[in-house]
Amino acid sequence: MAISETTRAQMREVLVRYPRKRSALMPLLHLAQADDGYVSADGISVVADLVGLTDAEVTAVATFYTMYLKQESGHVRVGVCINSLCALLGGDEIWDALVDHCGVGTNQTTDDGTITLERIECQAACTHAPVMTANWEFLDDMTVAKARHVVDDVRSGRSVQSTRGPAVRTFADAGRVIAGVDDGLVAEGDHRDDRMLAGLRIAQQNGDADRSAEAERQGASKVKGR
Ligand code: FES
Repeated sequence: MAISETTRAQMREVLVRYPRKRSALMPLLHLAQADDGYVSADGISVVADLVGLTDAEVTAVATFYTMYLKQESGHVRVGVCINSLCALLGGDEIWDALVDHCGVGTNQTTDDGTITLERIECQAACTHAPVMTANWEFLDDMTVAKARHVVDDVRSGRSVQSTRGPAVRTFADAGRVIAGVDDGLVAEGDHRDDRMLAGLRIAQQNGDADRSAEAERQGASKVKGR
């Protein structure tokens, strides 16, 4: 499928942020993927031309990283964390339930094209295990019932609210944000809560004030720059 003019314009906007064109390769691949639902041959050629690399060099990168897809994604990629903490607290059970509920396995898409299921690694969100993601937005403290509900809402076209971010957007919208296109939603949702800050509070109670203040400052700047 041909890359749209809108996406080409966004690629040029992102490209000029980088002192060396080739440094923009990965964000541009996300834009190509947002347009086609996967990284197509046309997407590779357009990106190669913009960053001054060969199609073969861009293909080498696109086929190395698992976030770049070789086949079209469903509208929402539903990820279930299957690493140790989430798995022990119910992630394995959630995964099995969703496979059964959706009738597809890992990296497979439902017949209606709405859901692609994937097994994901630790999202550094273990404070709220078991964790799922929907187009990379967090869904914390999941249960089998809540997971089925998320899938049913997506398939019925109902909005799904992430736990600490905006409502879940389309695969294309999420890909554009990953590439660095501002969607104006940075302030949506609660980013930190008591459980996430428990370690910080213990450090403060132990009198480790300098390190805890620095950690808090870094946490705040990460949220701002998100
Ligand atoms: S093990 Fe699932 S978020 Fe860390």
